[in-house]
Amino acid sequence: MNIVKEKILVIGACGQIGVELTTELRRLFGSNNVIASDLRDEHELLKGTGPYVSCDVMNKEMLHVLIIRHNITQVYLLAAILSATGEKNPGLAWHINMQSLLNVLEIAKEEKLTKIYWPSSIAVFGPTSPREHTPQHTIIEPTTVYGISKYAGERWCEYYFTHYGVDVRSLRYPGLISYKSAPGGGTTDYAIEIYIQALRDKDYQCFLSEETYLPMMYMPDAIRATIELMEAPKEKITVRSSYNLSAMSFSPKEIGQSIAKHIPEFHLTYKPDFRQQIANSWPMSIDDSTAQADWNWKPHFDLDMMTEDMLHNLKA
Ligand code: NAD
Ligand code: SER
Repeated sequence: MNIVKEKILVIGACGQIGVELTTELRRLFGSNNVIASDLRDEHELLKGTGPYVSCDVMNKEMLHVLIIRHNITQVYLLAAILSATGEKNPGLAWHINMQSLLNVLEIAKEEKLTKIYWPSSIAVFGPTSPREHTPQHTIIEPTTVYGISKYAGERWCEYYFTHYGVDVRSLRYPGLISYKSAPGGGTTDYAIEIYIQALRDKDYQCFLSEETYLPMMYMPDAIRATIELMEAPKEKITVRSSYNLSAMSFSPKEIGQSIAKHIPEFHLTYKPDFRQQIANSWPMSIDDSTAQADWNWKPHFDLDMMTEDMLHNLKA
């Protein structure tokens, strides 16, 4: 990988992805070249690892000053309201998810920043999209406010690239599973809770039904995909909305069986709630052949490898 010295700002650095992405960016680019920022207090795992600035991405003036003052060249925008939380407050989810992106894109245009990263989601797809091996280009009619905001965001990314030359890159992450920083209110969060509860109580009541298949990915693969996309040569990036990205697909029953190989007495029950309807509207698996062809994307972790690593690290 050809890593050029850059000055990077991570917005939403204390969230589930932010903590691990900031840590990896600091390893690659040098601690002082990666500024972490968030609304929240600095995450324990980031303390002492590099600069931290408290910043509300909705305050465009403050963000603009921060970017100029620190000579920022790249922004990773991770602040957002996720699917389940978004359905409880649709107006807020739309406002935060859209305005944060527009603030960053406008500043990127004005200050001629070199690269922007903004994640989209499998949530852009809705019940009218093909549910298996969902293609890169297909019918997109999301039914959650989160999905609507991600789809609109994708259109804005392509617009800023086409009209203003802003080099913004994006991935449609599947559900992400990790143990370092808690998830932020998504429909796929069951696949994290299940490991924690399996170790703690040997018992978990899942809020999705046993045969609900969703696309998923282990966090180390997601972090690697993000940085590989951002470091790919500009001419290789043919998708300026957001790339489909895939690693594995499983149901609650299958993740339960994978855990039971290590904890045979693990007991899994199901009590679907409002998140079932969200999950039912999303793909069961994703076709990411465009990402594979453009910048050689290849996942590493499958379900059993992830289970072993999650249980090992959560125990520790
Ligand atoms: P998260 O909720 O864990 O983290 C988001 C962070 O943004 C939080 O630390 C929060 O304090 C911060 N934030 C919220 N509002 C802010 C504001 N106004 N100013 C500054 N910071 C603010 O979310 P995550 O799981 O880390 O997701 C990051 C991005 O990836 C989001 O855009 C999300 O939609 C996308 N994504 C995540 C997943 C997943 O499974 N985690 C899947 C698909 C897409
Ligand atoms: N994991 C996310 C969610 O469930 C998908 O974007 O909201």
